[in-house]
Amino acid sequence: MMQEIKIVSKRFDIENSHTLEAVKTHGAYSWRDQLFEMTQDQIIEMIKQSGLRGKGGGGASAGDKWALMPLENEQKNILAVNCDESEPGTFKDRQIISKDPHLLIEGIICTCYAINANKAYIYIRGEYKQFQDILQNAIDEAYREGILGEKVLGDESFSLDVVIHRGAGAYICGEKSALLESMEGKRGHPRLKPHQKECEWYFGIPTLVNNVETIATVPFIIQNGADAYKAFGTEQSPGTLLFALSGHVATPGVYEVQFGTSMMEYINHYGGGIKNGKKLKAVIPGGASTKILTADEVQNAKLDYESMRALGSSLGTGGMIVMDEDTNMVEALKNLLEFYRHESCGQCTPCREGTGWVDTIIKNVLDGEASKDDLEKALEVSKTMNGQTICVFAPAASDVIDGFIHKFRDEFESYIQGGVS
Ligand SMILES: Cc1cc2nc3c(=O)[nH]c(=O)nc-3n(C[C@H](O)[C@H](O)[C@H](O)COP(=O)(O)O)c2cc1C
Repeated sequence: MMQEIKIVSKRFDIENSHTLEAVKTHGAYSWRDQLFEMTQDQIIEMIKQSGLRGKGGGGASAGDKWALMPLENEQKNILAVNCDESEPGTFKDRQIISKDPHLLIEGIICTCYAINANKAYIYIRGEYKQFQDILQNAIDEAYREGILGEKVLGDESFSLDVVIHRGAGAYICGEKSALLESMEGKRGHPRLKPHQKECEWYFGIPTLVNNVETIATVPFIIQNGADAYKAFGTEQSPGTLLFALSGHVATPGVYEVQFGTSMMEYINHYGGGIKNGKKLKAVIPGGASTKILTADEVQNAKLDYESMRALGSSLGTGGMIVMDEDTNMVEALKNLLEFYRHESCGQCTPCREGTGWVDTIIKNVLDGEASKDDLEKALEVSKTMNGQTICVFAPAASDVIDGFIHKFRDEFESYIQGGVS
């Protein structure tokens, strides 16, 4: 029997959970005194100790990133909350902002207090209009109740403004530096990375970029301590993640589980198993940009960063796409390639040209117009997309291409030999 743990989703089932009235009676903002009793350094140390890892795909230590923020500057820092969520298979952040927007506001207050910020932007995917409205209502409630604005929660020395910034529908704008370019009113192109670890910048102001779920986890840690969070999950992947489950399962949805949970148990318990009694064929484990796993690989797989890496894939955002025995892998790859081709920002040649080239080759495979050499060419082009670009969009696409063609090569070849109609 799986243990139910609810850290971020704890108030999702409360009636009217998107309103302040409903969540206030369930502990919202009750960590206030604990937060203001701590210094900024103490909070950052607590986040480090908790082992909280970024939940936007990379899994970097949140505390280490917070520690890069200058605390002594007279100029206040900025928090940018990443709610771009445009990757196929990833749909967890919208659960948070639609079901419990005050949890995100709580996390924003705790984070801004810790990193010396008095302004937070929530960069939201343009298509999330209805969720944006829910979030804006919650922000308005918070201003009316003295939770945001001057004297946050009655603290004389802390003011905070929260602004929603709507994206215009580009997947690349979820990449943290492209997001900041976009917020500055420019084209969403990723920036070159500095040689040394340093924080991001928005109009020259030190800025922290974190995912919605990362920020929404912070109030639990402030209120219950680092050890309480570490009590769940594994040593290197502590805590929980909201896993979005889609594809050929009986009950798709978003379910919070602790890291280290068995993937099969998760699919069977929450997803109700494979739909219509079919057999499992493959799983994309962490959103469309992670390498596909075969049914065999999934049998003993665990849902944590290290286990996924050991399988040559990654946990990404935890957006799991399940495929049954009837799934046509050539069509599935073609579908993903259309996405990559369309969403490449075009800044780097290997990405701009490579995504289009492989998409065309796989279209030819599907149309019965490709040779075995073409399949090799797809793999060769894919190789040139890895490690040659400013951001990890192209390397991720390359991993996806490799995974599909290498692991399901027979299917691709059967098209070439005219074996599948
Ligand atoms: C193409 C691309 C798209 C991304 N999209 C998102 C996104 O929608 N949301 C997100 O939080 N992180 C996204 N990321 C990761 C961000 O660059 C960044 O690592 C993350 O927002 C940091 O937050 P975290 O440390 O809390 O995970 C994306 C990265 C890439 C390369």
